Amino acid sequence: MVTIGATSRTTEGFAPEILAVALYKGESAQDLGEDAARVVSEGDISGKPGETALLYGQQSLAPRLMLVGLGERDLLTTEKIRRAAATVARRARTLKLQSAAFSLPVLPDTTIREVARTAAEGARLGLYRFDRHKSAADAQDLETFWLVADEGTLDEATEGAELGARVAEGAVLARDLANEPSNVATPEHLAERARKISEKYAMGLHVLDWAGIEEEGLTGLATVGRSASNEPRFIVLEHRKGGEEAPVVLVGKAVTFDSGGISIKPTAGMEDMKFDMSGGAAVLGAMEAVGALALPLNVVALVPATENLPGGDAFKPGDVLKMHSGKTAEIVTTDAEGRLILADALSYATRYEPSAVVDCATLTGACVVALGDHASGLMGNDEDLMAELQTAGETTGEKAWPLPLFEEYTEQIKGDTADIKNSGGRGGGALTAGAFLKEFADYPWAHLDVAGTAYGKKGNAYTTKGATGVPTRLLVEFLIGRTR
Ligand code: BES
Ligand code: MN
Ligand code: ZN
Repeated sequence: MVTIGATSRTTEGFAPEILAVALYKGESAQDLGEDAARVVSEGDISGKPGETALLYGQQSLAPRLMLVGLGERDLLTTEKIRRAAATVARRARTLKLQSAAFSLPVLPDTTIREVARTAAEGARLGLYRFDRHKSAADAQDLETFWLVADEGTLDEATEGAELGARVAEGAVLARDLANEPSNVATPEHLAERARKISEKYAMGLHVLDWAGIEEEGLTGLATVGRSASNEPRFIVLEHRKGGEEAPVVLVGKAVTFDSGGISIKPTAGMEDMKFDMSGGAAVLGAMEAVGALALPLNVVALVPATENLPGGDAFKPGDVLKMHSGKTAEIVTTDAEGRLILADALSYATRYEPSAVVDCATLTGACVVALGDHASGLMGNDEDLMAELQTAGETTGEKAWPLPLFEEYTEQIKGDTADIKNSGGRGGGALTAGAFLKEFADYPWAHLDVAGTAYGKKGNAYTTKGATGVPTRLLVEFLIGRTR
């Protein structure tokens, strides 16, 4: 794993193999020397985001100089810095170097701490790969990534680098868990991972097994999970560093494989349904970061974990469940299983008298249709809470966009033989799912539908094909905001 830290140009012994410096579109690089200016004037690099150019023997600090495009200076954002840091780290790794340095760009109205933090996140996330099941894994990894700051802001940059590295490590855990196939990442595997976190940071842990789930009356989870031989688990992780304050509860959907159940999904693309535990993975990733940062808050994580499989014992369309809250739900389709296990977790959360509850879930294909892979759907019953989450999304580059939960959507899921039904049909699919959850939240609550954002087919500067870790960093940033 790469070590990320901050340094100044004059720090003794600082001798990276490569130094990367920002190049803005339309600027000359004259201040970096004749050869750097030539690389630009000859058109080898224009300064567009994603571009890099390499030169040798330019200055005393490092044998190699990398110009990295950051776009137009006036249009610089933290997200562009995150991506540039990732690009630098990846390029250095491709060159089989052991150390690289990135001269921190200046962003008006943004502290060096924040700039260092985003660069650290970008470097760590950019270097991420999931190759533990490959026989011939690429052994080569970058060992050190330096963020270069002025001497006067070095302490600030060091703080930011540490913060960014810890937040990124949470997202890395979420990616690792979500990328694991369902034969590895079983409900019990997630519980084991939660146990590790609880031991590392002295958090409280309760794992309800099959008997515990039944005894607690978590009918939704028990019903979805009963046909699988990998038994469901209900994971409760408690970070208690906020004194007497009401806790924030994070809820994450962890369907370790969603076949659809009796309402079985088509074959094409079904393998992606190993990612249907990404919400739970992000919640565990966030708790890892919360622990590492020792945030002065009470935070509870609830992760209902199960497979959704057909079988002789499986639940069926038409069945009626008496949920944990006492409400009854009619099953229209066994493929709308996420809301059933989340509903129980939401009513379980009531006992904490929480100040806020945020759930995240790969809940609906409809949300992917609405927002694509660029933003998570944000719903809830509390505008202030939703605004906090939207802001956290902007800060972290894990964008979330508000969607409405009008009364009409609740009307749409009125049950025929029970109080509510688990599908309202095709129209407004993300919103009827949100409306279903809303029935179980009697506190300030928000819901993030991450079906389009938690994993992807392409990857960008700091994500790879597969799990992205979204919304781990959003959640951590939201919690940090609550410490201010
Ligand atoms: N896990 C899926 C949602 C999903 C779909 C996530 C595509 C990622 C990509 C969820 O359990 C599901 O199957 N939802 C159904 C609900 C419908 C049957 C009411 C959906 O969105 O089609
Ligand atoms: Mn489903
Ligand atoms: Zn699902």
